[in-house]
Amino acid sequence: MNALHDAEPLLRADNLTMRFGGLTAVRDFSFEIMPGEIVGLIGPNGAGKTTCFNMLTGFYTPTEGRVRFKGVDITNRKPFAIARMGLVRSFQKTNVMKRLTVFENVLTGHYLDGRQSLLETFLPGERVRRAERAARDSAATIIEMMGLGRRMNAPAHLLSCGELRLLEVAVALAAKPTLLMLDEPAAGLNSHEAAGFGETLRTLVGRYVQSLLVVEHNMGLVMSVSDRVVVLNFGQKLAEGRPHEVQANPDVVEAYLGKAAA
Ligand SMILES: Nc1ncnc2c1ncn2[C@@H]1O[C@H](COP(=O)(O)OP(=O)(O)OP(=O)(O)O)[C@@H](O)[C@H]1O
Ligand SMILES: [Mg+2]
Repeated sequence: MNALHDAEPLLRADNLTMRFGGLTAVRDFSFEIMPGEIVGLIGPNGAGKTTCFNMLTGFYTPTEGRVRFKGVDITNRKPFAIARMGLVRSFQKTNVMKRLTVFENVLTGHYLDGRQSLLETFLPGERVRRAERAARDSAATIIEMMGLGRRMNAPAHLLSCGELRLLEVAVALAAKPTLLMLDEPAAGLNSHEAAGFGETLRTLVGRYVQSLLVVEHNMGLVMSVSDRVVVLNFGQKLAEGRPHEVQANPDVVEAYLGKAAA
C-alpha cells in the first residue's frame, strides 16, 4: 500500500461542479484514484454519482473543474477518445444486446481496439484477419475468466440476472480499460450472488485493469471490495476513507438513515 503514496494518481478530478439550469447536481468535488486501487463511490439516490461518471468520461462537460487521466487533461475530450485512452465505463442501464450471444456481445466490446483504416475494412488483409483472431481469442479468455464459459454461445436473453451482470463487465473489459468505472454493476443481485461478484471484481485488478471505480448501492459489496470509499451527498463529498472508517462516520450514517427514514 505504501507504494501508492509515491505514485502519480491514475485519475484526478479537481473541483468538479455540474449545474443543470438552477440545479447543482455536483459541487466542488475532488478525488483521486491511484494505480492498483479499487475505489467505491457511494451516496443516496440523486447524490450525483452518475453525473460524476458522465463528467469523468466526457459525456458531460463540467461547468467547472478539471479531470486528468494518466497525467493528461481530458476535461474537454470526447467520450470515444477518453475510452481509447483506457478510461472505460459501464452504464447504469445494460450495455448488453439481448439477441446476441455471450460471445458476440463481448466481441462487439472490442470495437475500440480495432485500429484498422477504412480501406482495410473493405479490403481486409492479413493484418485485419490477425486482429480479428486476436479479438476472438481475447473475447473467449474474458468470458472464461468471468466464469461464463459454459454460456459462451447462449443468447443473452437466456442469462440469469447474475450472469447478465457478469456479461456487462465482460463487455466493458473487451475495450481493454486501464481504469474501469462500473455504475451499479450488482443491481438486482442477492447478497450471496453479490459476494461472488465482488470476488470476481477483485481478481480483475492488476490482471485485466489497473484500477476500478465502483458505484454501488449494495453496501456489503462495496465495503468488501473497495480499498477506499468516497461518499457523495447532495452533490458534495461527505466523507472519504477506508471502508471501516466510512461506515463508522456519523455523517455517513445520518445521510443513509435520514434517507431510510424518509
Ligand atoms: N441531464 C440532466 N439534466 C438535468 N438534471 C440532471 C441530469 N442528470 C442528472 N440530473 C440531476 O442531477 C442529480 C444527480 O443525479 P445522478 O443521476 O447523478 O444521481 P445518482 O447519485 O447517480 O443517483 P442514483 O443512485 O439514483 O443512480 C439529480 O437531481 C438528477 O435529477
Ligand atoms: Mg446513478
